[in-house]
Amino acid sequence: MIRTPLALVPYVLAIAAVIAGVLWHAGDLVGTQGAAMVGGPFALVDQEGAARSDRDFRGRYMLIYFGYTFCPDVCPATLGVMSDAMQKLGDPKRIVPIFITIDPARDKPAVLKTYLKSFGPAFVGLTGSDKALGDAARAYRVYFAKHPLPGGGYAMDHSSTIYLMGPDGKFVTYYDETIGPDALADDLRKRL
Ligand code: NI
Repeated sequence: MIRTPLALVPYVLAIAAVIAGVLWHAGDLVGTQGAAMVGGPFALVDQEGAARSDRDFRGRYMLIYFGYTFCPDVCPATLGVMSDAMQKLGDPKRIVPIFITIDPARDKPAVLKTYLKSFGPAFVGLTGSDKALGDAARAYRVYFAKHPLPGGGYAMDHSSTIYLMGPDGKFVTYYDETIGPDALADDLRKRL
């Protein structure tokens, strides 16, 4: 009775290791798709130059997109979808559309203010120090990198996901950039 279990120990350990590995990866998936691993506190500055933190938005949904104002295509298109969806819902006060720049060198508050005028009055634009924005991007698992353009200047490569955070500040769901305004509005309406 003693021998057999001892002989099994290496196998049990091996199986435990496999299970741990599976759980580890399942944890990753849950983090991306549903659990509390996306998002977190941030301390940034809005388009009026006022300090804003995630706590300012408690009690309201945050619809968050990371990008930059010099983006030629994906950012304006995605912000346009968010803006259209908000209009379709009648600009509900319970949802705050938030644009967080990943290009703070160029996206100062005044630049964000001008840029966001095209997308409606509800939008909050956030910028800040490299460190503060890097922390926020990491918390939301946003990838970004500077890439130089021929002839000078640079563009920012960045992941393009819209995040919905709940009134408690916790992750609710995400939408990829291919979503249209109707689908986004429909999904948001169901959650309000
Ligand atoms: Ni972009």
